[in-house]
Amino acid sequence: VPSHSRIITAVEIGTSKTAALMGELSVDNQSLNIIGFGLSPTRGVSKGVITDITLAGESTHAAIESAEKNAGCMSAEGVFLALTGGHVRGYANSGIVEIQSKEGTVSQSDIESVTNQSRMRPPPDEHAVIHFIQGPYILDGKPVDQPLRMRGRRLESTCWITYARTTQLAHSISMINDYGLRVCDIILSSLGSAQSVTTREERRHGVLVVDIGAGTTDYVLYRNGFVVSTGVIPVGGQHVTNDLSLALQITPQQAEALKLRCGRAVMQCKDRNERVWRLGERSIGDKEVPLMSIERVCAVRMEELFTILKQNLEAHLIPEAINVGVVLTGGASRMPGVEQLASSVLGLPARLGEHLSMPVNGDLQGGQYSTVLGVLQYGMLETASRLRTKRTSSIFHSVMKTLKLA
Ligand SMILES: Nc1ncnc2c1ncn2[C@@H]1O[C@H](COP(=O)(O)OP(=O)(O)O)[C@@H](O)[C@H]1O
Ligand SMILES: [Mg+2]
Repeated sequence: VPSHSRIITAVEIGTSKTAALMGELSVDNQSLNIIGFGLSPTRGVSKGVITDITLAGESTHAAIESAEKNAGCMSAEGVFLALTGGHVRGYANSGIVEIQSKEGTVSQSDIESVTNQSRMRPPPDEHAVIHFIQGPYILDGKPVDQPLRMRGRRLESTCWITYARTTQLAHSISMINDYGLRVCDIILSSLGSAQSVTTREERRHGVLVVDIGAGTTDYVLYRNGFVVSTGVIPVGGQHVTNDLSLALQITPQQAEALKLRCGRAVMQCKDRNERVWRLGERSIGDKEVPLMSIERVCAVRMEELFTILKQNLEAHLIPEAINVGVVLTGGASRMPGVEQLASSVLGLPARLGEHLSMPVNGDLQGGQYSTVLGVLQYGMLETASRLRTKRTSSIFHSVMKTLKLA
């Protein structure tokens, strides 16, 4: 590796798998080569929340170690970590200022003051801010790309503030630190997924990205290129598996296999008498069960998930402002019928996401890796801009201070 190249690593600790992806930033900081990939079944994590730090640490290390081996024994160095879990929340906050100058043109200090105001709302106790995601600047009621030196009376702006429980952040960071690696930044999982399955143009036209994982569903809504809302719903593919396991009295492993074989998000079977083997043909002690009941169990849970999503987004679900519709990713979005269900519940067109912005090999296709791929791209953009400006990310630094890790 030439001395001026930079190696960065993205890590997603999902509920079912932990993925680590290493990339090397090109000399001109413009592109990234994927050099290593590692995977490990996640342990000690429930619905995106760390419940056993020793087990979770072990499976995280296993994924990173396997990426390092895959990269020809290079060190993972700086880690960009994806964040999910029911404790991750967000809200919008706005700022407003009267233009001060005599000429009535917007000055840098007006912009700073409205931006600061929009960031002013503190998170609840025991929580820390992860991202301040700046919304558009509105001058006298009209959105402007760059308010500086424009004429007007009132400048407004909104900020989408995401925050997470401090203890969970500390757990995630110390798991990486324990391995002798440094966390460069924490990135909301949904932002990572959106980065890899949508283009800037699509985000400008309005798009809702929904990543359905095993224990959580992470979403982000973009309108006019800006983040309007993000959220984490503690429901995913694992809940469908658990429902099947209870309903048919089979183990979760057997239920998982059955789900992959016959699960559907929208029922298709019309014949009550159509039966399938619970465990697969010719297994000892197997029984035949109605296909309809399997489909129903899956469809009910998946519909519940999209109904919660609809309730969360409420007033934001304006079809005219979300022209691209819903883009679905995450492993559990691969269940047949998910697009149809999403479209009918949310009232928007829906499609499955593909990885657009980075050429990836076959191993990384499929919705499971959207987050880690997108987080790696965030890492690249951040590292490149940091190298250009020689500045460090200020929010993350303050998070680390809060956690007493810096
Ligand atoms: N073809 C498929 N049909 C239905 N569910 C699937 C399919 N492939 C994967 N899944 C489900 O996707 C989930 C894992 O997705 P993933 O995005 O890797 O989750 P996480 O990031 O939370 O670990 C599991 O619940 C698994 O059952
Ligand atoms: Mg995931």
